[in-house]
Formats: sequence, C-alpha cells, structure tokens
Amino acid sequence: MTSVGSSQPAPKGAGNDPRETSNAIWETAHLQQFAPQKILQHLDRIKEYLDTGDTVPITVEVDPSNACNHHCLRCTFEDYHELNVKRLSKEVLFALADDFADMGVKAVVWTGGGEPLVNRGCLEAFIYYHGKGLAQGIATNGSLVTPAHNEVFADRFVYARFSVDAASKAMHRTIHGSNDFERITKNIESLCRARDAAKRPNGDRLTVGFSFLAHPENYKEIYDATRLARDLGVDYIQIKPVVMHRKDQIDHSYFTSCLHYIHTARDLETDSFRVLALEYKFNDLLMGSYNRTYSFCWGHPFMTTVSADGYVNFCCHTRGLKEYTFGNVNKDRFTDIWAGEERREAIDRMRRDGLTNCPPNCKYHMINQTLEQVLTSQVGAHTDFL
Ligand SMILES: C[S@@+](CC[C@H](N)C(=O)[O-])C[C@H]1O[C@@H](n2cnc3c(N)ncnc32)[C@H](O)[C@@H]1O
Ligand code: SF4
Ligand code: SF4
Repeated sequence: MTSVGSSQPAPKGAGNDPRETSNAIWETAHLQQFAPQKILQHLDRIKEYLDTGDTVPITVEVDPSNACNHHCLRCTFEDYHELNVKRLSKEVLFALADDFADMGVKAVVWTGGGEPLVNRGCLEAFIYYHGKGLAQGIATNGSLVTPAHNEVFADRFVYARFSVDAASKAMHRTIHGSNDFERITKNIESLCRARDAAKRPNGDRLTVGFSFLAHPENYKEIYDATRLARDLGVDYIQIKPVVMHRKDQIDHSYFTSCLHYIHTARDLETDSFRVLALEYKFNDLLMGSYNRTYSFCWGHPFMTTVSADGYVNFCCHTRGLKEYTFGNVNKDRFTDIWAGEERREAIDRMRRDGLTNCPPNCKYHMINQTLEQVLTSQVGAHTDFL
C-alpha cells in the first residue's frame, strides 16, 4: 500500500491494525530515543495535569553520586566533583524505588552529577528497581562497568549509554582526562555480547548507545568514532554539541563542520546501527538563538531529578539552585516532597522568574515547545477543527 500523492513506500508493517500502523509510522518517522514527541504517548498524564493542575513524573533522573573518576573538559558538573561530593545512601535509593513504584513513575535514568557507578550501592539498587517494575536506563563513562553490571544491564535495563566522546586513546585522554579508553571499549563489547545472549521475554532487548559530545578538540573524530561504535556492536551513536551554561562560552563556528561530519557518518548506518545526531541543537546554538517558543517549563510535572545531595529539582540543569528545589529525600519521602508546599513555592518562583536561569537547548526544550501548544490551547482556539 502506498499513500496517495507519495512515492514513499508504506511504513513497514502498515496494515489495517491501527496499533501496527502507528508503530510502523513511529519507526519510519525516526521518532526514536531522543524524540520529544514521545510525551504525546502519555496523554493520560497530560489530561491529569489539565484536569487537576498536577500529575506524577513519568521519568525520574537519579544521581547516585556527584563524585567522578574522570575529568572531562567542560563537564557541566565539574564543580560538583570536588565541592559537593555526595552519594545517595542505600536506604534512600531503596525508599525512592518504593515511592516511585507507588506513585506510578514509569522509568528511572541513572546519571549524574558524577559517574553513577562510583556509588557501589548501585548494583543492588538496579535489581531492586527492576523488581519494583521500574524501567531503567543509564548514562555512564563506562570505566567502572563490571561483568556483574553487564549481566544486570543485559537482563533488566532498557538502555545503557556510554559517554566515550573519542575514537582513539589519545583523544579520549584529552577529553576525559583519564587513561582507560581500552578498558571502556572492552566493556562495551562485553555488554553487546551479553545483550545478544540475554533471553528476555517477547523479543525485548537492551539498547546499547555510544555517546559523542562534540568539542572543538574532538569533532574531527566524529566519523571514526561512528565506525568504532558500529564495530563495537552498539545500537546507535548519539552525537550532541557541548553546551556551556553559567560558564565562559565557546566559539560555535566548528558546529558547521560537525554537521558535515555527521552527514558523512550517516553512510555507516546499517539495519542494526543508527546515527542519532541532535542536529537541531547544533543549529539552534549556531544561530545563537534559544528558540524558546514557550513561556514556562511545562515539562517539569512529567520529569524530575534527584541529586546525589538528596535535593529534588525541576531538572538536571537546576541542580544546585536551592531556590528551585522541591525538598530533600534525605529528610522527607519523595511522595511527600512531590505533594508538598516547598514544591508549589518553587513552581510559583519559576513562574515569576521566567526562564532566566535556564540554559539554551535544555533537557525539556523540545518537550516544552510541544506542550506549550497542547497545554495553552484556549477554548476559543477551535480545537475540534483539526
Ligand atoms: C554529566 S554526565 C553523567 C553521567 C556519566 N558520568 C557520563 O559521563 O555519562 C551525563 C552526560 O552529560 C554530558 N555532558 C557533560 N558536560 C556537558 C556539556 N558541557 N554540554 C553537554 N553535555 C554535557 C556528558 O557527555 C554525558 O553524556
Ligand atoms: S564522566 Fe560524566 S560526570 Fe564525569 S567528568 Fe565526564 S561527563 Fe562529567
Ligand atoms: S532548564 Fe529547561 S527543563 Fe530545566 S527548568 Fe528550565 S526550562 Fe525547565
């Protein structure tokens, strides 16, 4: 079946079953891991927000540790690694899982702050969270991954993404300030083997990602890193621009070359390996525009962050800004913090202050663009006429 006026083949699997068709379109439209339109899969939560003025998060980012064993150039959180070295205790990690599951949180992303696996309690927590029915993903520098982690990722995680940012040992040392490139690439290969060997129900399988943060120093390795990622056996490479916030800016002119390298790297795609470049971020930063077509952070009721120091925040970018915190899980339960007065006051403050403290191309940027249209539709907007 070919759609009228189009020479495009019909999306794979497009038949009469609407579920099959929508899955196929989803796939064909490349609405993958980083697509902001994903929020529209959660219409129940959006409706709850519209009806009651609040809802519970779909995703929570948890930072098990602010400490990191790497020293990356321009790491957003480099100050934390020495000035705010905190870890979430096992008790708090487990209590969070109980609250998340009770409230209806769907997914947890382990990230930082620092390197999540610096916190030795993580492995036990991963198993506990899985037992609670919470979907899990992790961003890691990959240096502390053991065979035991690999087994847990392969059997129980939705994704594991390795921030490698280089195609060579020398460049990895330049960017990460560490000497463990070979160990990391071996860990990635082992995980890909474990992923392939894992027996999960319904054809479900771990997605392994290779992340490349493009700096002026490393962008010429984009093509080689893409080939390395493919050869290691990962499912995709994510290529994204370095963003400087509340710090000295960098000259963005090299982004044009990045886009060129990205287009060339797409030739390396196969049926089982994708190049997922966040091109809109490069373009927005190149234009010097924040491209903020929204007046408020609409995404915050749907996603939140728990920092290693226990604070619950709007998002990863407002970590450390005490005036925008909702409470602290070292003192109170997450459930109470979410329903609490401190959160309401922080939201009011954000509404009053506007987005002055928010970085360009922030985490929920595209989701905010989408939600602005959905949540601010007025009665007079003839919404039934599509
Ligand atoms: C802060 S790290 C924490 C988790 C883990 N240590 C890692 O490196 O994956 C999470 C992600 O933030 C990204 N990141 C760090 N500094 C950044 C910056 N200045 N601009 C954009 N992304 C940045 C890293 O590339 C990494 O993929
Ligand atoms: S490994 Fe992650 S947290 Fe550590 S310095 Fe690099 S980007 Fe920052
Ligand atoms: S940085 Fe972005 S996600 Fe965070 S509070 Fe501001 S608008 Fe929301």
